[in-house]
Amino acid sequence: MKIYPYYPKPVTNKITQYMTYFRKGRSWLDGLYARSYTMKMGRVKMPNLDLYLPNEPDLIHRVLVSEAKYFPKSKLLHDVLEPLLGDSIFTTNGNTWKKQRELLTPSFEMIRISQVFDLMNDAAKDMSKRLEKLADGKYHNIDTEMTFVTADIIFRTILSEKLDEKKGLEVLEAFVTYQEESAKLGMQKIFKVSKLMQFFMGDEKRQESGAIIRNSLYEILKPRYEDMENSIEDTHIDILSSLLKVIDEDTGKPFLLKDILDQIAMLFLAGHETTASSLTWTLYLLALYPEHQEKAYQEVRDICGDDDLTIENTKELKFVMNVFSEALRLYPPVSFYPRETSRDIVMRGKKIKKGSAIVVSPWLMQRNERYWNDPHMFDPYRFDNPEKIVKNTYFPFGMGPRICIGSRFALQEAPILLATILRDYKLELEPDFTPDIVGRLTTRTVNGMNIKLIKRDK
Ligand code: HEM
Repeated sequence: MKIYPYYPKPVTNKITQYMTYFRKGRSWLDGLYARSYTMKMGRVKMPNLDLYLPNEPDLIHRVLVSEAKYFPKSKLLHDVLEPLLGDSIFTTNGNTWKKQRELLTPSFEMIRISQVFDLMNDAAKDMSKRLEKLADGKYHNIDTEMTFVTADIIFRTILSEKLDEKKGLEVLEAFVTYQEESAKLGMQKIFKVSKLMQFFMGDEKRQESGAIIRNSLYEILKPRYEDMENSIEDTHIDILSSLLKVIDEDTGKPFLLKDILDQIAMLFLAGHETTASSLTWTLYLLALYPEHQEKAYQEVRDICGDDDLTIENTKELKFVMNVFSEALRLYPPVSFYPRETSRDIVMRGKKIKKGSAIVVSPWLMQRNERYWNDPHMFDPYRFDNPEKIVKNTYFPFGMGPRICIGSRFALQEAPILLATILRDYKLELEPDFTPDIVGRLTTRTVNGMNIKLIKRDK
């Protein structure tokens, strides 16, 4: 019998769909029904929102690429993320976004530098040591460690600081609260709940958790910003260092402390949540399919042996990366991309008014049976022939001008962490464990990911 990796089985009629949504109602994935996966364009009408879901490759290309300027990022997304990210690149539009993208692009060029590789590799080694404590014959929630190590890598590469375990847990807890409260706030805004009511319904918690995260980043940023103001040379090789050196063309001066803090907070969020999600799902799939895990392990052993990982040998890990690509197809960390229309638009012959919400979902397109054979099945071999994948049906990093700026960073980090785990540990999924998926800012589970780690002999 075929074993399918878990996904929330969609209901088949609208009434059951509404009942399921209101019973569970934690994220949009609870509201999907069977037709959502095959529809060409969906529509949801809510009190404060007229929302369309284009679900055909050419429509997706229009929204994200060829007509991207008529589909800016949604204001609702900006409002929900504002206490944490301020005005950062993830949610801004127009000239503000363009300027921020120009500010960040040179910093991401440096990711190719081998120093960043070494920082990632050091964090992976520290992770493997921490995992030894978990290799005690019991099942543990591996997602906690994936979140910690990816946050640690962001700290090391952006700020040249290791993530302190105590402080790290406090910040990561604040992130969980922030995500939960953000999802609630999104719904409250759609249903026009007043600001006063939002406060009583938990918005204060969201603001507080946003402040905890920002303050911990501010403490690191402030002394380095002051050094830059006092012309003290910055000798760090990290992303913050290159941000501090950029001159704002409009003012002829470096960027303001607040502007840099906004970007750092955004990089922290976008850079660890997504990668943590992708790694947790990859480990789930490896644990669920022992034969694929064994093949991936053999590949790591054959190519890397017991040697230190290098840029060269991690690039050769083709099967490991096929597994990772397939995990990004089945569980895209960002499961929906919210936009709005900046003018009246016609799609599939339907007039869509200016200001309507548009959501493009890689979750739906990457599991669409019209473009994928046995779409809910785990099959890493699909990526042996990437040319066979229908255009605009696979886009876990987005497409067009708003494509992920950190994709190369993630594609360097993932093989390092996966090779380290595969080489040192065998993974076993807890029998009958079912990951309870929620699609919030990223695709996570509410019940963790219970895996047993068995130390491998060298
Ligand atoms: C597996 C890992 C990752 C995935 C799947 C991912 C996915 C995405 C997606 C889908 C978008 C576009 C969203 C949209 O169009 O609405 C995006 C944007 C972005 N990502 Fe990533 N990301 C990952 C890792 C990273 C990392 C490691 C960083 C930084 C260190 C990063 C920084 C950003 C930034 C700054 C943007 C906004 C770009 C813009 O709007 O111009 N991401 N990411």
